[in-house]
Amino acid sequence: MTTKATSETGLEGVVAATSGLCYLDGQRGILAYCGHDIRELANSATFEEVCYLLWHRRLPTRAELGDLHTELVRARPLPEPVLRVMQSLPLGNTMDSVRTIVSVLAHHDPEAGDDSLAASQRKAVRLTAQIATVVATLGRLASARGPVEPDPVLSHAANFLYVLTGERPNPTASRALDVALILHADHELNASTFAARVAAATLADLHSTIVAGVATLKGPLHGGANAEVMKMLLAIGEDAGDERVEATVRGMLARKQKVPGFGHRVYRTEDPRASQLRQMSQTLGEQAGNCRWFEMSQRIEAVMKEERQIDANVDFYSASTYHTLGIALDLFTPLFVVSRVAGWTAHVLEQYSNNRLIRPRADYVGPEYPQIFVPLADR
Ligand SMILES: CC(C)(COP(=O)(O)OP(=O)(O)OC[C@H]1O[C@@H](n2cnc3c(N)ncnc32)[C@H](O)[C@@H]1OP(=O)(O)O)[C@@H](O)C(=O)NCCC(=O)NCCS
Repeated sequence: MTTKATSETGLEGVVAATSGLCYLDGQRGILAYCGHDIRELANSATFEEVCYLLWHRRLPTRAELGDLHTELVRARPLPEPVLRVMQSLPLGNTMDSVRTIVSVLAHHDPEAGDDSLAASQRKAVRLTAQIATVVATLGRLASARGPVEPDPVLSHAANFLYVLTGERPNPTASRALDVALILHADHELNASTFAARVAAATLADLHSTIVAGVATLKGPLHGGANAEVMKMLLAIGEDAGDERVEATVRGMLARKQKVPGFGHRVYRTEDPRASQLRQMSQTLGEQAGNCRWFEMSQRIEAVMKEERQIDANVDFYSASTYHTLGIALDLFTPLFVVSRVAGWTAHVLEQYSNNRLIRPRADYVGPEYPQIFVPLADR
């Protein structure tokens, strides 16, 4: 007996949902949220405007943006019991802590148990605000510093940096993070968004769907790649010459290792987010008076082009960008969560509002049917 005989490894090229959120043209290197080109959003919008755009499918008016800011600010402080759980977790991979704390937040949500669309929309706003506080606070706890109260005056990005460092960030750093958050906010049916939508299609509650998203983002083939890029750069060393940088990459390729931050399932040209982040990495490096991480990244990019014609993806230049902003390596992937929660929740709400259980088939390749059952005593 066989089931349907067509299957694509890794679902490559399979269209698994309709969505009004993300337009992605891998041939031309175009990415747009609800029709708005990512480059224009990165140049002119704020992360909060992008959240509104993803949740409402249009840009907000000034009043609507003000209301959203108020809602986000109200949700920033974490419930005391959540903070206590954070303090009780062993130090380790911060993504594990983020995954656990999203689950814990579910228990303390004022509308826990109400899975109506309206309540889920409010949960999406709260969770987006809270996750930023969670990640910044985990960053403090990892270096034995106490939590910092969020500042209601600051934007989402600036407040993240403030809660992380305890110091008001300069406008360049705030804007750089704001742009990074915009660029990571949504990306069609990437693995973590698909996982969140599969969970949503069972009508699991919003927090459960985001736990699925966080768990899936953790892997080094997905969100974990930005940390892997920085580990590679650090292993090569800031003082290494170009020859060593190039030899390291050529060595990885010769050993058939994947070079983190390169390649993409959909883009056949440069990932438009990589172009923006390359520029940002350079600008931040120049302002910090240390362009070495940027220059090393450029060398690696040149070797990848020369040897394999493979382009950098979103994770490649986000590594040197975050490092120059002073963000610890272990927070790189959690920072992806701080942004992508906007896209995940938008997709989950979209799934809820026009739902059908997602339940594909598998191409069966196991032992032939029927097999003879031999009783345990005779085996
Ligand atoms: C993103 C990624 C998982 C896409 O995977 P995929 O669509 O299944 O593509 P494949 O792994 O089949 O790669 C296709 C070819 O390009 C090569 N390739 C892809 N990414 C590569 C990389 N980062 N380094 C070296 N070679 C790479 C593969 O070896 C393969 O070559 P082959 O056909 O000679 O075997 C893959 O490119 C990767 O592992 N990249 C590194 C991790 C990363 O940066 N992830 C973040 C993505 S935003």
